[in-house]
Amino acid sequence: MHFRSVVISNLEISPGYRRIRLTAPRGILEAQPGQFVMVRVRDGVDPLLRRPFCIYDVGTFSTEYPDSRRCYYLEILYKVVGTGTSILSNLHERDSVDILAPLGNGFAPGEPGEEKLLVGGGFGLAPLYFLARRLVDASPVKVFIGGRRKEDVLCVTEFERLGIDTYVATDDGTLGARGLVTEVLGDHLSLEGKRRAVFACGPEPMLRAVARMCAGRGIRCQVSLEATMACGLGACLGCVVKGASHDEKAPDYRCVCKEGPVFDTTELLWEEAGCEVRP
Ligand SMILES: Cc1cc2nc3c(=O)[nH]c(=O)nc-3n(C[C@H](O)[C@H](O)[C@H](O)COP(=O)(O)OP(=O)(O)OC[C@H]3O[C@@H](n4cnc5c(N)ncnc54)[C@H](O)[C@@H]3O)c2cc1C
Ligand code: FES
Repeated sequence: MHFRSVVISNLEISPGYRRIRLTAPRGILEAQPGQFVMVRVRDGVDPLLRRPFCIYDVGTFSTEYPDSRRCYYLEILYKVVGTGTSILSNLHERDSVDILAPLGNGFAPGEPGEEKLLVGGGFGLAPLYFLARRLVDASPVKVFIGGRRKEDVLCVTEFERLGIDTYVATDDGTLGARGLVTEVLGDHLSLEGKRRAVFACGPEPMLRAVARMCAGRGIRCQVSLEATMACGLGACLGCVVKGASHDEKAPDYRCVCKEGPVFDTTELLWEEAGCEVRP
């Protein structure tokens, strides 16, 4: 869908992070966790390109009396890092933006009943919250949230409200365990006896570590990747990553915007300091 969207709210949820709620057509309710949107943050040519953001949530609300109508919304959780996100952070109620949504492929939900382990850092929690809302009725869900410091640990209350066990780790120890969230995940994966699936979104080193841990234990793992995107539609090929069977003679490239952003880790080639890690 291509639509014009009005800002309903745009709140700071932690220093440097905001959550924006935008009106959307009814079709947004069909969006799947892991899919993303491309936002033109301002009319005109500066900035020229739309910015990609995962869908944090979708839902309905009613306008107030007397014009009582059912409306639909889309939420994005974002970190202010540069020009586009600064413009976004300065939007107020009733400002409008231009959106393409929903785009890409989301997470496959896995088998009912198996334990679902969600692992994220920073704004990587955005698609995981949407996913948790969809999974929680059919499966036990646990979430592992990492950040450099406590300000980077997002959505703990929101996950807890869903009744989900939440594990936190920060690099500096200001919240939860001191260290990497992957270490906390590793302890959990070492516990015997459960069928599990892992879903991860966050910085690449974290995804790489999660992919390796799951591969070593034969656990299915899906990751949501970030890549530089110009079109978001599979046209410019600016967002490709190497697929699992890639080599110089037979290139295998995957388009993150069209074939992803969610991939099963076995679909990708994980290169590290000159050596290849094939989960
Ligand atoms: C599929 C997909 C989903 C995404 N989902 C989200 C989301 O849910 N929430 C969110 O906040 N972001 C998300 N991103 C990243 C987001 O698109 C970028 O942060 C955004 O485009 C930056 O735009 P900008 O104009 O503010 O920064 P730019 O002006 O383009 O860049 C400014 C500076 O920030 C650096 N930078 C750019 N992107 C990032 C980044 N992601 N992290 C750290 N530094 C960066 C650049 O290298 C540059 O130095 C997603 C990206 C992809 C591809
Ligand atoms: S961003 Fe253009 S092909 Fe993916």
